[in-house]
Amino acid sequence: MAILMAGGAGYIGSHVCKMLYEKGYEVIVYDNLSHGFKNFVKWGEFVPGDISDEKLLDNIFKNYEIDAVMHFCAYIEVGESVIDPQKYYINNVESTLILLKTMLKNGIKKFIFSSTAAVYGLPEKIPIKEDDPKQPINPYGKSKWMIEQILEDYDKAYGLRSIRFRYFNAAGADESGEIGEAHKPETHLIPLIFDAALGVRENIKIFGTDYDTRDGTCIRDFIHVNDLADAHIKGLEYLLSGEGTNYFNLGSGEGYSVKEVIEKVKEITKRDFEVIETDRRPGDPPYLIADSEKASKVLGWKPKYDLNMIIETAWNWHKKLRRIDR
Ligand code: UFG
Repeated sequence: MAILMAGGAGYIGSHVCKMLYEKGYEVIVYDNLSHGFKNFVKWGEFVPGDISDEKLLDNIFKNYEIDAVMHFCAYIEVGESVIDPQKYYINNVESTLILLKTMLKNGIKKFIFSSTAAVYGLPEKIPIKEDDPKQPINPYGKSKWMIEQILEDYDKAYGLRSIRFRYFNAAGADESGEIGEAHKPETHLIPLIFDAALGVRENIKIFGTDYDTRDGTCIRDFIHVNDLADAHIKGLEYLLSGEGTNYFNLGSGEGYSVKEVIEKVKEITKRDFEVIETDRRPGDPPYLIADSEKASKVLGWKPKYDLNMIIETAWNWHKKLRRIDR
């Protein structure tokens, strides 16, 4: 079985590549390296390219016998998506449509799509279930929800079977320490706290301490990247066994506040650093916690890593990254 991994050189994609490869799948990593990393491509063949390049994709689909495509390429910065929505709609929507068009042209009809908790916007109740209202509040979340709806239409019209995974807060790193979380630029909470712990940044800022939560800071559901990878394998097996289009939340079901995560990092790294309380970041929902019962029932998926393991594995990798990078 050969799987085309669009965005396979990124944080989540590379972890899924490793797990697929270890399970015996043939992996073809397709990535333009705009946000991915060449040294994350360790499992499978690398084909550099962009998902908007119809000609190149067409060649790949003609030259390799691809059984399914997983699609991780997207711009993911909420704030930037508000300032420059066109960038998000062109890359996350238009380019994805070219990928889907080229797949259909070549008769490839199995697709796994990285979606996000951002499709729910400001949730009305917690934990969030898959069929709760979709009211994304920024172009990033809207771009993902647009593709989700398009995939429903493509299923009915063209028989394109897809799985949409709505990730909550992906975190942690592979236990080998070979790959881990890195974004260009970094905006995510845990890597930024590590930077403060390492002295690479002077401090960590808490965006808002006046939320209606147990300690006033936002609550998030952190899910280990290898638990996400495991869900992708299960989703792929589900599609390959002939099951139809479906969609799942992927979260641990546990919520931790920003302050609790900072305290946990201090405890695990045994380092102290300055924490500054600042204003809210626009568009942050106070709570984001997944109900992932559906993935458990339908796919037999259960997360294995808790917050301690998330921070330990991420720290193990982040220390090395900083030595290499700086
Ligand atoms: N935060 C801080 N200080 C920082 C960085 C973040 O206090 O320096 C806070 C944020 O305000 C938020 C929490 O930490 O309350 C988590 O922030 P992240 O940026 O790490 O993650 P988000 O919850 O904003 O975003 C994640 C994914 C997005 C996805 C979103 C779903 O990274 O891609 O969940 O809404 F869209």
